[in-house]
Amino acid sequence: MSIRYDDQVAIVTGAGNGLGRSHALALAARGAKVVVNDLGGDVHGVGGSASAAQAVVDEIIAAGGEAIANGANVCKADEVADMVAKTMDKWGRIDILINNAGVLRDKSFAKMTLEEFNFVTNVHLTGSATCSKAVWDIMREQNYGRIVMTSSSSGIYGNFGQANYGAAKLGVVGLMNVLCIEGAKNDIRVNALAPTAATRMTEGLMPQEATDLLTPESVTAGLLTLCDRDAPNRTILCAGAGGYAATKIYETPGVYLAPEDQTPEKVRENMAAITAADNQQEYMQGGQQTMKFVGYAASHFGIKM
Ligand code: NAI
Repeated sequence: MSIRYDDQVAIVTGAGNGLGRSHALALAARGAKVVVNDLGGDVHGVGGSASAAQAVVDEIIAAGGEAIANGANVCKADEVADMVAKTMDKWGRIDILINNAGVLRDKSFAKMTLEEFNFVTNVHLTGSATCSKAVWDIMREQNYGRIVMTSSSSGIYGNFGQANYGAAKLGVVGLMNVLCIEGAKNDIRVNALAPTAATRMTEGLMPQEATDLLTPESVTAGLLTLCDRDAPNRTILCAGAGGYAATKIYETPGVYLAPEDQTPEKVRENMAAITAADNQQEYMQGGQQTMKFVGYAASHFGIKM
């Protein structure tokens, strides 16, 4: 069955260019009413103009869809609140939020100022939290919501020169982990996309042959599965050039060390067993780790839990 968003309202941040534009066009083509948000700055977050968002809205309308442009800066709670209020005035609900807006300020950590660190984490992490917070109560009241964070392999695995970006991009995964627990009872599902696509953000980084394969549309096909009615919850979907994979975080079983062995020397001695991947597990709540460790200790002391 084809995936549709009829009668649904979506906000896509940073949708004036690149991936966000592609997401907005595809959501609208499949029936969603779309708020095309973009403050219109350059790739470093400098400057601003409404024309990028408006151009995408014009494209959607020309194709027979419904969309409005919005120039809110995702880091500014008052501007985001105004965007949400205007969306509610016009369409009365918000089903989907795609936190996509982003900037780069790449430098080695040695050369990066704290201002550059904070600027980037502010757009990606605080911006995602600000927009999610602004729609949260609406989604709770509707008993329906789909939120997608935009992560990155830079955060999941690391990339030279991207301490600010990488920290923010794994930060949104932490935000996802908590929001999907808190949103579950109101059918709010939260997922993350780790894309790789040729956009202005990646200009000059790859040879033309690779660039031609890394289409935003191939990433958007994955994104659309994270925000429809049958979306998963808490999936990190990686997508690029038609390849689709999932990133998962596992914990090894580890070892238990008796009180007399709880020393750094013994921990180091046991590192191979601690890090052995056999029987590793994916946890759905932080408390599961605590219960595992308490369980080991309790069984050592013969305590019934
Ligand atoms: P892009 O630079 O083409 O688009 C980002 C858009 O966000 C721009 O239109 C920009 O004006 C807007 N924006 C920036 N700051 C904003 C703010 N404070 N408020 C509202 N809008 C703002 O970049 P691209 O490649 O399309 O990236 C989209 C998302 O995907 C970003 O979060 C990026 O970090 C992420 N990503 C992209 C990858 C890629 O290979 N292109 C790889 C991994 C992640």
